[in-house]
Amino acid sequence: MKVLVTGGLGFIGSHTVVQLAKRGHKVVIVDNLSNSREDVLTRIEEITGIKSKLFIEDATDEASMRRIFEASSFDGVIHFAGLKAVGESIKKPIEYYYNNLVSTMVLSKLCIEFGVEKFVFSSSATVYGNQPSPLSEIMDLKERTNPYGETKAISERILTDAAKVNLGFSVCLLRYFNPIGAHESGLLGEDPRGIPNNLMPFITRVANRDIEKLTIFGDDYDTEDGTCVRDYIHVVDIAEGHIAAIENMGKGVSVYNLGTGKGTSVLELIETFKKVNGVDVPFVIGERRPGDIAVCYADPSKAYKELGWKANKSLEDMVRDAWRFEVNNNQ
Ligand code: UFG
Repeated sequence: MKVLVTGGLGFIGSHTVVQLAKRGHKVVIVDNLSNSREDVLTRIEEITGIKSKLFIEDATDEASMRRIFEASSFDGVIHFAGLKAVGESIKKPIEYYYNNLVSTMVLSKLCIEFGVEKFVFSSSATVYGNQPSPLSEIMDLKERTNPYGETKAISERILTDAAKVNLGFSVCLLRYFNPIGAHESGLLGEDPRGIPNNLMPFITRVANRDIEKLTIFGDDYDTEDGTCVRDYIHVVDIAEGHIAAIENMGKGVSVYNLGTGKGTSVLELIETFKKVNGVDVPFVIGERRPGDIAVCYADPSKAYKELGWKANKSLEDMVRDAWRFEVNNNQ
């Protein structure tokens, strides 16, 4: 297949480009470099031996996107490009709604116009809102606590409505849980600009002594050790979920959780990181972070049944690979 990957130099996008290339698919990348670096392209080439075409463009820019669709005939689009910091989305709602919704509309409109049949969308477990885990695709979506989550739910709705009336246009909504880890080569990983928002890149920066200590946001939740529980999943497993989706998705709209089905607490993740990597991660217990829910993990059985995909890598793999990337790149 020939696949257009937006946000293809980002954390999940770059790992997916590698897996696509390995499976023999041709890839065209669109990335505006707002939270990624151009040298990721060289690193992808180093791993795969294949040079993908890159357009440094913004996926909200319809005229530029149109030129790309005119120049190539795509079998599918995987749309990663988007803003993804939950806290920032509360401070900059318009930016989040604009970027995340306009890009989805521009790309789906062009797919329909140019007869591109498959659209795979980066959604998030956040669309489930606060409901008891395991979270399953049959559950109704519940209220989100931030604009970022809202953009994912609205994008799902836009794509679903579009696929209903455009029979040649099929949509696969992938709801990610907590992707962490890095490529085992140490060449690709999560490299956020500035102070990280998410737990794993924060842990690696503390272990690296870039940041003095980690604050655990609350230890008084109703969980075994009092800290929040999440479904951490290796980014390469997530990337493989996209390959399974684009190769096996059916007609119309389909939706899948990409998670492991296993919950891990903040303290467990820190302890595993320390043990596997033999480094210290100093932390203090702080206040709860507004909007956090106590427990969030997937029922991943649907993706296995219908796509033949399941996560294979362990928590140990995730923390080892994340630390290898940090050591290779930021020390
Ligand atoms: N945490 C800390 N200290 C930190 C950072 C995080 O204790 O410095 C805790 C959080 O409170 C939470 C856990 O670590 O309990 C994981 O936090 P992340 O920010 O890494 O991830 P979230 O589960 O909050 O959010 C992630 C994605 C979102 C997505 C959401 C869906 O970042 O994009 O999962 O559930 F919407």
